Amino acid sequence: MLDFTISLARNAGEFIFSHAKKDLIVEHKGRIDLVTQVDKETQRRIVNAIESRFPNHSILAEEGVKKSGSDGYEWIIDPIDGTTNFVHKLPVFCVSIALYKDNTPLVGVCLNPATNELFSAEAEKGAFLNGQKISVSSTERLVDSLVATGFPYKTDNMQRILSRFSRVVSEAQGIRRLGSAALDLCYVACGHFDAFWEEGLNPWDMAAGALIVKEAGGKISCIDGSDFDLSKGNIVASNAKLHDQILALM
Ligand code: IPD
Ligand code: CA
Ligand code: CA
Repeated sequence: MLDFTISLARNAGEFIFSHAKKDLIVEHKGRIDLVTQVDKETQRRIVNAIESRFPNHSILAEEGVKKSGSDGYEWIIDPIDGTTNFVHKLPVFCVSIALYKDNTPLVGVCLNPATNELFSAEAEKGAFLNGQKISVSSTERLVDSLVATGFPYKTDNMQRILSRFSRVVSEAQGIRRLGSAALDLCYVACGHFDAFWEEGLNPWDMAAGALIVKEAGGKISCIDGSDFDLSKGNIVASNAKLHDQILALM
């Protein structure tokens, strides 16, 4: 399954990258929530490949695919995570593909086709960047930590979000906002970031990255400290050592 998922991501990545420098057809799903024809066509290719190999599997994909299968397997797909970056030709985006069985993650793959970083994980088998094992950082103090976050397209909770931002920026060494939640999680997994939090996310933003963080030795939870749940739409991911300190600032 890992090999199949990697091949889905590689084929998708090649397609995405071949359009990265071209003019894009961009539509608005909301005031600032964009989708391009490349997102849609990438998703169509991934979904077709899964359907022809595994017709009984469920599929949840960002651009309007929600198909119920019969055998407990579910693919959760974000064809391009970081679409705003993609539209602005900023090379920070990825294709994110995860496979779950009965709500438990089995495989997660994120590929940034612009940098050729391929993050992958299989349950209980560790996490990898281009085939090399990765692990989270060993940072213990907030003052030494580089922390990432993101902002949802819906701005109704902005006051609460900015208060959290303000508390973390006062304590951490630095904060970054890259614009791809899936890559933020992968960068916690490989130790670039010591922690990441965000609310207002969807399952496809987190499904692969959450497994990759866990398999790299990190910790994930909801922002309120409860067990991580894809359907809750928020996440704190860390190198484990800093987890309680980040939660305290949430
Ligand atoms: C978005 C990115 C971004 C995050 C947003 C997501 P999209 O996904 O992950 O970093 O802040 O909340 O919706 O729209 O580029 O697939
Ligand atoms: Ca996304
Ligand atoms: Ca997307």
